[in-house]
Amino acid sequence: MNQPQEPDQYGVVGHPVTHSWSPFIHGMFAMATAQNLVYRMFDIVPDAFRRDVLKLFAGGVRGLNVTLPHKQAAAELVNELTPRAARAQAVNTIAFFEDTTLLGDNTDGIGLTCDLERNLKLELGDKRLLILGAGGAVRGVLGPLLEREFREVTIANRTSHKAQTLVGEFADMGPLTACGFSGLRGPAYDLIINATSAGLQGEMPALPADIVGPATVCYDMSYGRGDTPFTRWGKSLHAARAVKGWGMLVEQAAESFMLWRGIRPNTQPVLEVLAEHH
Ligand code: ATR
Repeated sequence: MNQPQEPDQYGVVGHPVTHSWSPFIHGMFAMATAQNLVYRMFDIVPDAFRRDVLKLFAGGVRGLNVTLPHKQAAAELVNELTPRAARAQAVNTIAFFEDTTLLGDNTDGIGLTCDLERNLKLELGDKRLLILGAGGAVRGVLGPLLEREFREVTIANRTSHKAQTLVGEFADMGPLTACGFSGLRGPAYDLIINATSAGLQGEMPALPADIVGPATVCYDMSYGRGDTPFTRWGKSLHAARAVKGWGMLVEQAAESFMLWRGIRPNTQPVLEVLAEHH
């Protein structure tokens, strides 16, 4: 009689990581696509990142998602980067191949554009985009966003010189400008993406009201139950929509799954289950 095969091992590394929805999402993907795999959480502190991740791969793990605060460290650990991960200098997905290559990819940007275009049905061409923040989260999504034909993209950050540095790095890809929050003014943007971590501290930076109009979509890359400070702000200014980043989370996971298993799961059933939670 054939022995049942051991499931392939995957997981997410972060610190902290206990709040992660990735095991649930990948568990649903695996069931729906009949893939024999397990997906676990690994809480690893920054000092131990390199050693412990290499140990996981040596122990048979075939792929990892990487979350805060390790995305840049992961880009340095792998032996090969996909072009989009090289552009971002940040990795959210590692695949371990049998020839012992560790490939680093970044699926955050395509996860975001997928959510905006496929799930939310937004037409991005010729639109004016404002991105709030200039940290690792922005670095991860800027390349894929700039592949869309935005008319204008503004990056505004509390520390304006960080926004300027990013603009300098990505200026070849699109019509980018940088400013501090106090430099923002109307007319209203078509799309405002919050990629700051201010909401994690329950904060919302002070921004002028005239950057939001009745057609503005406010998109928060963070997610949780109920409104975030940013979605609350958008709603208070009567934005057309104020959306959290659950869809981006699920779509980036589907792209990681695809890199590992060669099959892109249908994200709709997972989105529907998660919608009941928030
Ligand atoms: P991440 O990987 O989530 O982007 P990060 O690289 O530490 O994390 O970047 C955090 C971003 O959130 C930065 O743009 C930061 O602004 P500064 O560059 O000025 O630090 C922004 N941020 C964090 N707390 C904030 C707050 N209370 N108000 C406004 N912006 C904030």
